[in-house]
Amino acid sequence: MEFEGVIRSRKSIRDYINRKVEDEKINFVLECARLAPSWTNKQCWQFIVVKDKKIIKDLSKTSIINRWLKNVPVIIVACGDPKKSGFRNDIDYFIVDVSIALEHLVLAATDKGLGTCWIGGFNEKKVKEILEIPENIRVIALTPLGYAAERKRFVGKLAKIVTQSNKRKSLVKMIHINRW
Ligand SMILES: Cc1cc2nc3c(=O)[nH]c(=O)nc-3n(C[C@H](O)[C@H](O)[C@H](O)COP(=O)(O)O)c2cc1C
Repeated sequence: MEFEGVIRSRKSIRDYINRKVEDEKINFVLECARLAPSWTNKQCWQFIVVKDKKIIKDLSKTSIINRWLKNVPVIIVACGDPKKSGFRNDIDYFIVDVSIALEHLVLAATDKGLGTCWIGGFNEKKVKEILEIPENIRVIALTPLGYAAERKRFVGKLAKIVTQSNKRKSLVKMIHINRW
């Protein structure tokens, strides 16, 4: 897909069909995450690829609003090591590093015809327990990865209505030229 097509067609997908995601595609999206920029190139991220149905079910239970995750074929869990990044102006850059890498992954998935959905609504303590993530590592976000269903279930439709997800502010509301 050409770049603008990827950017314009990416959207949060909450309904997936029961189809295996090819390993080549999983490897491709991880490779795109790997190439992301990071604080002094420290690459503080770690990704857990969860395919095990029981673990996916357990992860879906860590958030009331994201129970729909129980039906997805793959979950990618994006983690970061705060000690392997920087801190400036009150900004913890490990969050930025991991987020950039995960967005690379999300856009790469779109390019390969796969759906994703950035998930911030999870219980970090429970996710860490389930996945046996070391104490010093933080979980930044999760995303499902899979083929989108044509027919949307209630929860997917509801999320789109609540978040008005097809709407974006116009450029004039966010752009300042030369000064604020
Ligand atoms: C930091 C962050 C956290 C999010 N957490 C959730 C979540 O827990 N559950 C969910 O269904 N969507 C979540 N989303 C997806 C947003 O609702 C979605 O990106 C937004 O409504 C715009 O819709 P679009 O992604 O389809 O363009 C999250 C997005 C971001 C960036």
